[in-house]
Amino acid sequence: MLVFRSIHEYSEWRNGLSGDVSTGFVPTMGFLHAGHISLVKASVKDCKYTVASIFVNPVQFNNKEDLDKYPRDEANDIELLEKAGCDVVFIPSVEEMYPDEVNEKYEFPGLDDVMEGAFRPGHFNGVAIVVSRLFRIIRPDVSYFGKKDYQQYMIVKELARREFSEINIIGIETVREEDGLAMSSRNVRLSEEKREDADMIFQLMKRANNLKVDFSPKEIEAHMTTMLSNAGFEKVEYVCIANGDTLKPLKNWSDTDHARIFVAAWLDNVRLIDNMELI
Ligand code: PAJ
Repeated sequence: MLVFRSIHEYSEWRNGLSGDVSTGFVPTMGFLHAGHISLVKASVKDCKYTVASIFVNPVQFNNKEDLDKYPRDEANDIELLEKAGCDVVFIPSVEEMYPDEVNEKYEFPGLDDVMEGAFRPGHFNGVAIVVSRLFRIIRPDVSYFGKKDYQQYMIVKELARREFSEINIIGIETVREEDGLAMSSRNVRLSEEKREDADMIFQLMKRANNLKVDFSPKEIEAHMTTMLSNAGFEKVEYVCIANGDTLKPLKNWSDTDHARIFVAAWLDNVRLIDNMELI
């Protein structure tokens, strides 16, 4: 596997590829786990070349403590990528990605003002800034995003529709721990004791499916919020049942809405998010 740290080195490699080979791209912030690796494996299966990137993007963190505490383990990441069959990893420095002041502004009305967008101001602008810079540098044919961050996946699809119509955006299902907790680089910050309660989000989302017959979306949201607080979650930012295609909150159930439940809650000073399709 080739490791490139500068845009110049990467571009030399990229320029050497003939036009008819397909390149798949998996952007990450590192500290990789089986969730990230499932994206890499999907790309290895579909494309001639797979490129991953590792870059902890400062402009998408609205909380300095979260950025400072973001876990890193580059040597292990490189090993995992290599084992998964990745061909190239791009690991730029902050100066390489942001040599000048950053002042682009991206807006995604309807998509970036709810849920994560409402609770993490500027977050999706930061994601759109880095993803568009990475797309211009990497020049992939296909790029893979996890549905664990479903709202991010929707926003990247919209970004590609507007500016990168040549790139096909693929969403990959969430990979979970045995007890159902969605894999996340932040999970290592949970104490052993609190880790045992963390699967509550998944269990309650599953239960929402059964409650659909008797309760409205708002009633289920309120019930889940109470249950999470009772289970020891310090703060429940939102439980939201929304249309999975538009992210518009649902007031009532309808057969035509593709309903999804979204949760963000704090446990042990760690912010956990998850979501699931309701069927
Ligand atoms: P990061 O959190 O490192 O995630 C990189 C990719 O892995 C994202 O597409 C994310 O949705 C996916 N992923 C994370 N956990 C997953 C899981 N349990 N199952 C399946 N996929 C999972 O998301 C980011 O980085 C950044 O915002 C980035 C897109 C790299 C821009 O900086």
